[in-house]
Amino acid sequence: MAAVVEARPIAAGIFSLWVEQPQIARVVRPGQFLNVRVSAGPDPLLRRPISVADADRRKLRLVFQVKGRGTAMLARLRRGDELDVLGPLGKPARMTRGQDVFLVGGGVGAAPLLFLCRRLARANRVRVLLGARTGEQLILVRDFRAMRVPVKLATDDGSLGCAGPVTEIAEPDIRESSRPVVFACGPKPMLADLVRRLDPIPVWGFVEERMGCGTGICYCCALPGKDGGYVRFCTEGPVVLLNEVKL
Ligand SMILES: Cc1cc2nc3c(=O)[nH]c(=O)nc-3n(C[C@H](O)[C@H](O)[C@H](O)COP(=O)(O)OP(=O)(O)OC[C@H]3O[C@@H](n4cnc5c(N)ncnc54)[C@H](O)[C@@H]3O)c2cc1C
Ligand code: FES
Repeated sequence: MAAVVEARPIAAGIFSLWVEQPQIARVVRPGQFLNVRVSAGPDPLLRRPISVADADRRKLRLVFQVKGRGTAMLARLRRGDELDVLGPLGKPARMTRGQDVFLVGGGVGAAPLLFLCRRLARANRVRVLLGARTGEQLILVRDFRAMRVPVKLATDDGSLGCAGPVTEIAEPDIRESSRPVVFACGPKPMLADLVRRLDPIPVWGFVEERMGCGTGICYCCALPGKDGGYVRFCTEGPVVLLNEVKL
């Protein structure tokens, strides 16, 4: 169990939770997620997967958007409540040293990139590119800037940063680098657009597919691989080479 130590909205329909869970906090690595039980009763039965957006020695941060019943229940949590979490699950993202790393986030997809940024910024040149529909929907900008990494913003309506998709501002910056390492998280159409624009540059993506068991048994989360077979995001991911799957 984890104790909620802070719960607050950070944008319309998007919430940040800090929970105290030292056993998980000590070992979790960027890219991993928790399977969260959203109610004390049997309904809803399935846990909801939420990425770890940040961690210190004792606490974990979850940042989530309300999509349906489960996340609406999570949004009602308050300081002092208890949360049943399983984790850390999934394979950690690969770590690099001395590289030009680009973190491209769309909407709530910025969340898992924050934890990755914290770990990668120590030994790489990290640049962050965040996009959202409107300026009010851009999240965690101050958190990234507090790590002293350059952050570029894009909004669909032009209310903050450049007008247009984040993939459009990411493309020239990434192409300028001789050996870029690219991580992205966001809606599937955004990820597909980034892969298409950057081809053949590899793009490591956090794929937030629907999940069932979360442990590799049910194949609920599987996407077809380009060379046949299926990729299960709960075990082989959630961070995978997007160039190798059919999004
Ligand atoms: C590994 C992983 C990490 C994730 N990390 C985060 C995170 O850090 N923050 C966050 O906000 N969300 C994250 N998600 C997505 C989150 O798990 C879903 O939004 C959540 O399970 C929806 O539950 P619900 O009960 O609110 O919605 P439901 O009532 O189950 O569904 C409501 C609507 O959301 C859609 N939906 C459900 N699950 C997903 C999904 N996985 N992806 C896209 N659409 C979905 C449904 O099709 C439906 O239209 C992650 C998913 C995965 C697999
Ligand atoms: S969620 Fe069951 S195999 Fe991935």
